[in-house]
Parts: sequence; structure tokens; C-alpha cells
Amino acid sequence: MSTIPRTPRLTRRLAVAGGTPVRAGDRPWPDWPQPAPGAAAALTDVLHSGRWAISSPSRGELYERRFARLFQDYLGVRHCVPVDHGSSALVIALEALGLEYGDVVLVPALTWVASASAVLRAGLVPVLADVSPETGCMEADGLDLDIGARAVIVVHWSAVMADIPAISSAVDGRGITVVEDAAQAHGARWQGRSAGTLGRLGCFSMQHGKVLSCGEGGAVVTDDNVLAGVLQELRADSRRYRDDVARPGELDLSETASVMGSNFCLGEFAAALLCEQLGVLDAQHETRNRNYEHLAKLLDDIPGVRMPRPRPEQDRMSVYEVPIVFDRLPPGRSHTEVSQALTAELGVRFYGAREPLDRSRLLRPATKPGLAPLAARFEELQRGRSYPGAEHLARHTVLTHHSTLLGTEEDMADIADAVAKVAEAEGSAW
Ligand SMILES: Cc1ncc(COP(=O)(O)O)c(C=O)c1O
Repeated sequence: MSTIPRTPRLTRRLAVAGGTPVRAGDRPWPDWPQPAPGAAAALTDVLHSGRWAISSPSRGELYERRFARLFQDYLGVRHCVPVDHGSSALVIALEALGLEYGDVVLVPALTWVASASAVLRAGLVPVLADVSPETGCMEADGLDLDIGARAVIVVHWSAVMADIPAISSAVDGRGITVVEDAAQAHGARWQGRSAGTLGRLGCFSMQHGKVLSCGEGGAVVTDDNVLAGVLQELRADSRRYRDDVARPGELDLSETASVMGSNFCLGEFAAALLCEQLGVLDAQHETRNRNYEHLAKLLDDIPGVRMPRPRPEQDRMSVYEVPIVFDRLPPGRSHTEVSQALTAELGVRFYGAREPLDRSRLLRPATKPGLAPLAARFEELQRGRSYPGAEHLARHTVLTHHSTLLGTEEDMADIADAVAKVAEAEGSAW
């Protein structure tokens, strides 16, 4: 069993209260983002290529096409349609299902707001579902299967995967499509299958903080040939790639227009960056996952504190944010105060988990006139529901960005020491 060096409790005045921090300020944490070795050359190549967008005249292969192929192969899926944001990925994934205006989509109560706002943008109504207080993910037995939902968005929250096979079995035969929101789970695997490929459609974000990033970007993946064509049109103003090879100066896109789309296209600079960043993702996973496990074991020694562990079926993690759950908070202290105390001890940012979506300031569809009828239905269907699992995690979890795990075992020992110090701090220590 690992031991954490600790000084006697009485001397452990917290750094937020003027005590000596666990970690000296001259020891930096890993940076984020970390440009891959070929990133600068790829960006320069786009700069001089004469092609900055997929809607530009043809001059050889687009980086966007190349990234789609690389990401498909990485995940083991037939089709990838890159987009400009993870939110757009969710919008077009839902639009591709061809549902009726106002249809209900189940969404976890604990997730980034986009998982629910995308539903409204697609003309549908989100109904929130509770999550497991153990994992932060939706569970099959927590779903309201009698509300007439037509789809469920399952989020792999922060570090561990939701059990998509169990959720798929639960909704089987009920006309409910499983859409995976894998914005926080690039490269996570469940019994050998990648996150994003276990549902009918999988959605990714490549925004700045994600493990695979190009600043702003996203993608939808699917094995369904028909949906893939529709997704292309939905993200490129009703155009999809031609079957033949465009001659120089012609467009690669053809106005097939089987469905009306919008412009959610990924730019060529972002696509080129993604091609390179994908090449370093697995090495980063290895470091992060090793450190996650190491830190989780160190925290096992601290009463009332834990890190969610993956289920046995999950054979690889993809850590987006590192959740440290203080099931027992220091007396009289909130998770926000705990995160401020950890930040002061360690010199790297910790922050409290966000509030569940039923009380999120960011989810207020009634403020947008175009969403008013959906907002009214959303509020009506929400009434009387509660989310104890999401509430518990929202009030007891502190998070740090995954780049904090790109360091060394000594860094993990520092975090564990700071967590122990804060967990046992009482009275005048604050
Ligand atoms: C679970 C989840 N879904 C969707 C999104 C939206 O992605 P984007 O910010 O790229 O639009 C995010 C982004 O943080 C996310 O975490």
C-alpha cells in the first residue's frame, strides 16, 4: 500500500489561510494544449495550399477528408463527418434521425449544457435523467421509458464510460435511438469497442480543452451508410462529397440536397491540426491513465474521498477531467471552497463540478424566442423530477483538467498530499 508523507495535523494550516502550500511555486504543471511534432508544418502547409475550407476549389486531398479517414480507423467505425463544434455534431446527429418537432430526447442531468441545448436546437425537447453517484453517467434503470422518448443522449462523463450496451438493451424495441455524446471520451474503450461507436451515432468535441483538440472542432461517427450521407448534407448546406474525383478548380461538394443543411464545416487549419494531434493521443492516454490509477490508489487511503473507477468492461479510459469526489466534505465547507484550497496548495486549477442541468443558468431556452414552444414543454416535463445522484456529485466533486495527469508519479503524490491535507482540515486550519 502506498503511503503519503504527512506532517502532524495541527501544523497543517491550509495555503488559502496563509499556510505553506504542499507544492512550491517553481515546479510547473504540464501545459495544455501540447502541439504534436508535425503540427506547425501541417498548419504552414494549409497556409500556402490555397485551400482553407472544404468548399474551396479542388487542389488535391483535403485535410478534412484525411482526418475523417484517420479518425474512422482510430475508432474502428465506417464513417466520420467532421464539424466545427461538438455542439454542431449533436445537432446534426439528432437532425439525421428525422424526428418530429417536439419529440422527447433523454439527456443526463450532469453534463455540459450543450448535450441538452443541442436537443432544443434540433427542434426537440430534452428530458433530464439522473446519473449514478458512483460514475456520473446515466444508467439503464434510471431512464423514464414511459415518456415516449425517441432518442437518448448518453454522455461518458469526465473519466469513466456509461454502460451503452445495458442502455441499448433497455431501450430496445421502444423506438428510442442511442446517440453517444463522446465529447469527453475520445479513445475510451468498452470490451474492445471505442466510445462513440457503441450507439447508432457518436458525437465528439475537439474544443481546446478536449484530449483531442484543434481549438474548436467536432465530429459525428456512424456505421450507417445512409445516415453518413445525410450528416454530410446537414453540415455543408445540403451538399455532400461527390462520388467522382473533382478536377482542379472544381468543387468537391455536390448539391445533392436530400435534406436542408446548415454550415457546420470544419476548416482546413483545424483539420490539419487534428491529423497531427491524433498521432500523440494514445501516448498521452497511457500517461494519464497510469497516473489516474496511481492517484486513485493514493486517495483510497483518505476516508470520505474517492475517484470514480471504470467498470470491468471498460478496457481503456479517456480522462477529460479528473473527478475527486469528497463524499464527506470538510466540516462546514463546500466543494467550491475545497477546490479553492486545492488550487492554493498545488498551483494548478481545481474547480467544483457544475450544477445539474435542471438548475443550470446556462440552460434557459425561454430566453430565445425561437425556442419558446419547446421551452414551455421542457419546463412542463421537468416539473416534479429530482436528480439525487447528479446533485450529490455536483455538490461533492472537485475537478482538475486532464493535463494535470500528464506529469509524473511525484505530481500525483503532491495531489494526494494536498487532498489529505484539505480533507482533514478543520476550524483554524482554514
Ligand atoms: C459532454 C459534452 N457534450 C458536448 C460538448 C460541446 O462541444 P463544443 O464545445 O465543441 O461545442 C461538450 C464540450 O465541453 C461536452 O463536454
